[in-house]
Amino acid sequence: MILHKFKNSADLDRAAADLIISMVRAKPNAVLGMATGGTPVGLYQEIVKTYKAGLVSFASAKTFNLDEYVGLPVTHQESYRNFMQRNLFDHIDIKRENTHVPDGNATDVDAECRNYDRMMFEQGPVDLQLLGIGGNGHIGFNEPDTQLSRGTYKVTLKQETREANKRFFNHIDEVPTHAVTMGMGTIMQAKAILLVVKGAEKAAILDATLNGPITTLVPASLLQTHPRVIVMTDCDVDYKV
Ligand code: GLP
Repeated sequence: MILHKFKNSADLDRAAADLIISMVRAKPNAVLGMATGGTPVGLYQEIVKTYKAGLVSFASAKTFNLDEYVGLPVTHQESYRNFMQRNLFDHIDIKRENTHVPDGNATDVDAECRNYDRMMFEQGPVDLQLLGIGGNGHIGFNEPDTQLSRGTYKVTLKQETREANKRFFNHIDEVPTHAVTMGMGTIMQAKAILLVVKGAEKAAILDATLNGPITTLVPASLLQTHPRVIVMTDCDVDYKV
């Protein structure tokens, strides 16, 4: 893993956006893996600025999002489809049919998960997967456990994850209890991964991700086994050799 440290979040956003933009400039039909949460909002804004300046086009690009809440109407402000439209897709020239977010309201969720993996297999692999990290080390919504899922699946969210995400809702009771997420195997198939970690409160989990044992109890630690991971952070964390 390559670690890039930044003095502030604005510089980090610009660098992360530039990496994604360079990928799309080099390969206009790139397949991008997208993430949600508070972390990528600023870098998506930087991408939009560059698009509006006429310096990049997403007309041939495709995207696959990591995850989606189960049971939240797609029109809900906090559905991940809605998040992506608001923060990125509505402001760039990507074609709607080229953007993919798992359907958390599918009547047959297992079939939806299989279908998502099949689409990714047929249209992939993902060239560059953007990731944030949960305070407990989850990536996508792959929660710490004694074993992790290979493919896309329906996950029960941990209470700490629902607590962390309640800031986006009026009340904890409104935070969905389940989500559909790419599995660890799905994520690890990406050719390259950009992990963005912001805020001093994430320093400990980033340290465990970079320097700790590879364990399903810290799902992000599995990234140590991926050949091409770039970590961008404003945390004061180093590799320990
Ligand atoms: C979310 C998402 C993750 C995200 C993480 C951290 O719930 N499923 O993809 O990386 O939790 O979110 P944030 O960036 O808001 O801290």
